[in-house]
Amino acid sequence: MAETLQEIREKARALRVEFETAQGAATDSAALQALRDRFLGRKSGAVSALLKSLGRLAEAERREAGQELNALKTVIEERLAAAEQELERRGREEGLRRDRLDATLPGRRPYVGRRHPLTVVREELEDIFVAMGYEVYDGPEVEDDYHCFEALNMPPDHPARDMQDTFYLEGPGGLLLRTHTSSAQIHYMLENEHPPDVRIICPGKVFRRDSDVTHTPMFQQIEGLVVGRGIHLGHLKGTIEAFLHALFGPQYPVRFRASYFPYTEPSVEADLGCIVCGGSGRLASGPCRVCKATGWLEILGSGMVNPAVFEAVNARLGRAAYDPEEISGFAFGLGIERVAMVRHGIDDIRLFYENDLRFLEQFTG
Ligand code: DAH
Repeated sequence: MAETLQEIREKARALRVEFETAQGAATDSAALQALRDRFLGRKSGAVSALLKSLGRLAEAERREAGQELNALKTVIEERLAAAEQELERRGREEGLRRDRLDATLPGRRPYVGRRHPLTVVREELEDIFVAMGYEVYDGPEVEDDYHCFEALNMPPDHPARDMQDTFYLEGPGGLLLRTHTSSAQIHYMLENEHPPDVRIICPGKVFRRDSDVTHTPMFQQIEGLVVGRGIHLGHLKGTIEAFLHALFGPQYPVRFRASYFPYTEPSVEADLGCIVCGGSGRLASGPCRVCKATGWLEILGSGMVNPAVFEAVNARLGRAAYDPEEISGFAFGLGIERVAMVRHGIDDIRLFYENDLRFLEQFTG
């Protein structure tokens, strides 16, 4: 039994060391409870016992020793509370690790892929033409000069070649990447000598040395070719109008403008009344950017097949399979990106090829 202030102080110090050692070994709440009993228990706790022995001290010493013992008590209490909290936290963590399944958590949605917006537009275009009786024909992307230019009435020195800056392949054969799907017309006619009944569309990639907000070095087109007896400009106009109305809606006017392509004569470009500003060229916020305030959207190039194209095919076939005296035809070509940009109000073509999901996820398909 401690008798003097000195002894009580020493005992308190010893108890503190003893508590600290014992606490290090207490790893569950039962051990912590045992510690609490051992040091702070009312009846047999070591600190409580010391407190009881204070009665034998003189008043001043009693106060001093009392403060010291109470401080020890507080330290022990705080340490035990902190240890208990830590145990609880670990228990929660452990529980979470063990029970992975928490039925109250919101479910994880499976990521559903979708078609690229350009694929959606291309397939829609194909559907419209297939419904009109067209066949889908695939031409090669690697071409020679003959199919891409010469047979299309563009001899080597023709100025129209400047409109399409081309990628040439190294090596013999003068191969190049097609600059337009018009070359597929030539392939088809050379492979299919049974006019008069051509009705094809040729979707595919084309390549040009060109790159800015409205041009990418690779883009996609759809070519159309119709050949038959008595085909005239009225068929061309009716077909283009029907197709644009099927694609965008019958409420938009279609207009034809005279143009020039070496492989058609006459040549026309088709415009659609702007679907963004309704043809007025203005929006409440200012001039319409999509149609550049003209009220019209340029959609495609077309025309009546130039007899020179039929003659080139005949020359290669060695017989007049496509006799311009007997048959005629019309052709057209349009950019798939252009249609998608107009439809969705997109002003930078490069977005289609950056594969940024934040962009792509906005389209259903
Ligand atoms: N080849 C043209 C281009 O790439 C588009 C085109 C215009 C195709 C007139 C045609 C046509 O078949 O008749 O810009």
